[in-house]
Amino acid sequence: MLRIAVLVSGGGTNLQAIIDGIAAETITDTEIAGVISNNKNAYALTRAKEAGIPGVVVSPKDYKDRETFNQALLDAVDSMHVDLIVLAGFLVVIPEIMIDAYPNKIINIHPSLIPAFCGTGFYGLKVHEAALARGVKVVGATVHFVDKGTDTGPIIMQKPVEVKNGDTPAILQKRVMEQAEWMILPAVIDKIAHGKVTVINKTAVVED
Ligand code: GRF
Repeated sequence: MLRIAVLVSGGGTNLQAIIDGIAAETITDTEIAGVISNNKNAYALTRAKEAGIPGVVVSPKDYKDRETFNQALLDAVDSMHVDLIVLAGFLVVIPEIMIDAYPNKIINIHPSLIPAFCGTGFYGLKVHEAALARGVKVVGATVHFVDKGTDTGPIIMQKPVEVKNGDTPAILQKRVMEQAEWMILPAVIDKIAHGKVTVINKTAVVED
């Protein structure tokens, strides 16, 4: 049984996709041990509560400095005794102490086809604004392992999505979520739960 902690900051639609995937058994041998948010108002916490999943808030605002917050965040994850940490719209920089403690055990969903439109400053609608400004015809989403860079870890799975005439950033974001994010994040979790993802020379190898 793969035990996962899901870290969130906002609406939690990717968390919901995981919850729904477990319920529908498209994700198997997996349980969500807990949800952690830096934002006490995150609707993702409501989704967790409604699903009977423990939710905790660990916010930088509640700690005297970043180092103390970082340790509190790691302690919260450690207390859940998980095999995998899933960043599902988590907008806080993951502390190096957590990456050291969970090597190739932290995954993130990013709303672009990395290496396009990623890195510092590329999050949420900003990603889709940049894609439309550049005039790309194909966007998509990426699930990758988290390393000490920003969106630089080994890519595990990607899914393309077509840009359509008249798209606004919000319309494009919704399509990328519906057609890519909510599909590949559950799929990667299920693959990891069944030992089908390995990292060789900083490249993720995924079995069918
Ligand atoms: C998603 O677009 C995800 O790609 C990005 O943050 C957003 C989170 O949305 N990392 P939600 O909280 O899962 O609805």
